Amino acid sequence: MPLQSRHLLGLDGMPRQDLQLILDTAVSFREVLERPIKKVPPLQGKTIANMFFENSTRTRLSFELAERRLSADVLGFQSTGSSVSKGETLKDTARNIEAMKVDMVVMRHFASGAPHYLSTVIEGHVINAGDGSHEHPTQALLDMYTIREKLGRLEDLHVCIVGDIAHSRVARSNIYGLRTMGARVSVCGPATMIPREIERMGVEVHHHLDDVLPHVDVLNVLRIQLERDAGRLFPSIREYHAMYGITRARLEKAGRAVTIMHPGPINRDVELSSDVADGEHSVILQQVLNGVAVRMAVLYLLSSK
Ligand code: CP
Repeated sequence: MPLQSRHLLGLDGMPRQDLQLILDTAVSFREVLERPIKKVPPLQGKTIANMFFENSTRTRLSFELAERRLSADVLGFQSTGSSVSKGETLKDTARNIEAMKVDMVVMRHFASGAPHYLSTVIEGHVINAGDGSHEHPTQALLDMYTIREKLGRLEDLHVCIVGDIAHSRVARSNIYGLRTMGARVSVCGPATMIPREIERMGVEVHHHLDDVLPHVDVLNVLRIQLERDAGRLFPSIREYHAMYGITRARLEKAGRAVTIMHPGPINRDVELSSDVADGEHSVILQQVLNGVAVRMAVLYLLSSK
């Protein structure tokens, strides 16, 4: 059964069967990553351009590796050092890249909606690798894959997303995906970081971490985005850590084995203490590994449409 959409722009409105198909397909590619030769041929002859207009370590390398593992030819584009600095528009840049017979474009952009716009001006498939504070669909897919791998299911699990929900594309995509898959989702953070009326997305809102912790299966801890002026949303980093930082003492008080996730990059000892980030319940590096398999699944499924 193919995916319903020819692009992956977000998880808002994505049907459950598409989410299930991507997660199930990723299981086969995860197995490929354990082989001595981690390369398979499905995208042989296809060309994929990775257009990054914002910094990235995990997503850019993960897509590039996924593309190479599927035997695609890969074009790397970063806005720094490109003709964007000479005033070339996004549309012209993309159409010039596509003119080189590119089949698919993976795009990260600082502006919300940029990949959606791109999908209206080029013929090829577009994959959103994170747009502004809007969506980061492959991050949410790899998060869901990792939860399912660790806990065996998504349905009826309680996932709490902690931190700056208002500015987080990771939170938004996770909420859409997890709700569609039947998980219970809550958000926790200071009122300045929780969008008004977020309950309409089907999530519970908490402001006191210690109240919700004894009831959660998974904590997905968000980075405090200091580069987006998040520091103005709470009195000090020390205070944020005291109220919302995930520490071993806090988890022990909660009295249950909570799975710890973080999309990266981590501000150590701000949103997450180092011993928790590297501790026995952390699946942060599994998220990174699973990200390659999930992105292979997305590329494979879109290319087969
Ligand atoms: N998780 C994530 O998007 O990380 P990067 O910004 O390093 O790609």
